[in-house]
Amino acid sequence: MPDDLLHWRAEFPTLATTLHMISHSLGAMPRRTEARLAEFSRQWTTRSIRAWEEGWWRMPISVGNLVGRIIGAGEGEVTMHQNVSLCQSLVLSCFDWRGPRDGLVTEDADFPSNQYVHHASGARVVVAPPGGLIEAIDERTQLVSVSHVTFRTSEIRDLGAIVRRAHEVGALVIADLYQSAGAVPVDVRALGVDFATGGSVKWLCGGPGAAYLYVRRDLWPSLRPRATGWQAHARPFEFEAGAVDYADDAARFLTGTPNPFFSREV
Ligand SMILES: Cc1ncc(COP(=O)(O)O)c(C=O)c1O
Repeated sequence: MPDDLLHWRAEFPTLATTLHMISHSLGAMPRRTEARLAEFSRQWTTRSIRAWEEGWWRMPISVGNLVGRIIGAGEGEVTMHQNVSLCQSLVLSCFDWRGPRDGLVTEDADFPSNQYVHHASGARVVVAPPGGLIEAIDERTQLVSVSHVTFRTSEIRDLGAIVRRAHEVGALVIADLYQSAGAVPVDVRALGVDFATGGSVKWLCGGPGAAYLYVRRDLWPSLRPRATGWQAHARPFEFEAGAVDYADDAARFLTGTPNPFFSREV
């Protein structure tokens, strides 16, 4: 029986000469990447400073739209960043951890880098025992962090049930989709997750240095990340002094100068 997916092999020239069985560490390079990288350097060489006008400045959002189609996010709801650790820091910096709702429920199954961010955040970190995440969520929980597919065991977590329990007590959920997006169906809006992160290597078949952050649209006005920068400003090119005046759109979750090294096409 012919396999519908086999024609995709031609899109990954590496496969002609090697067995590539480590996409969880680095994707096999897509055929079109070379041309995209050449296009990037041609823009830089020929357009010089005007290369910024080639969509580079908005690329964290235009590329986010490509990822959004894979994870079920709406147009303009996903921003690109350097890695998941930074996305986690950004989300955690949106909260005040000093009040009575100071709990961040997590588990050892979370990727260690996420855990390092959690423990450094100032939150009261509640490490749920294996299989006990839902029971660990209570009225003092501000945020629940969970991997959709856990990196150690490949277990698929029931995100819907976790979100329901969290919302019941007024808590929010950040889901790490790094090990699920591209491998199993993901629909952030249907699941109702509040934040989601993941990155370009692994099952999205990309190279390193690009991660995505989804934030539920109706939360935007209430979130003011302390991890911020001039790209999050409503008028970045006014170079205003003082505190940041956050952009109304998802740019409010950006930081400084973006990395325009992203591929534009999938
Ligand atoms: C579930 C999960 N989250 C995050 C990461 C990587 O995080 P970062 O992009 O900060 O390197 C990995 C890498 O293996 C992972 O498996």
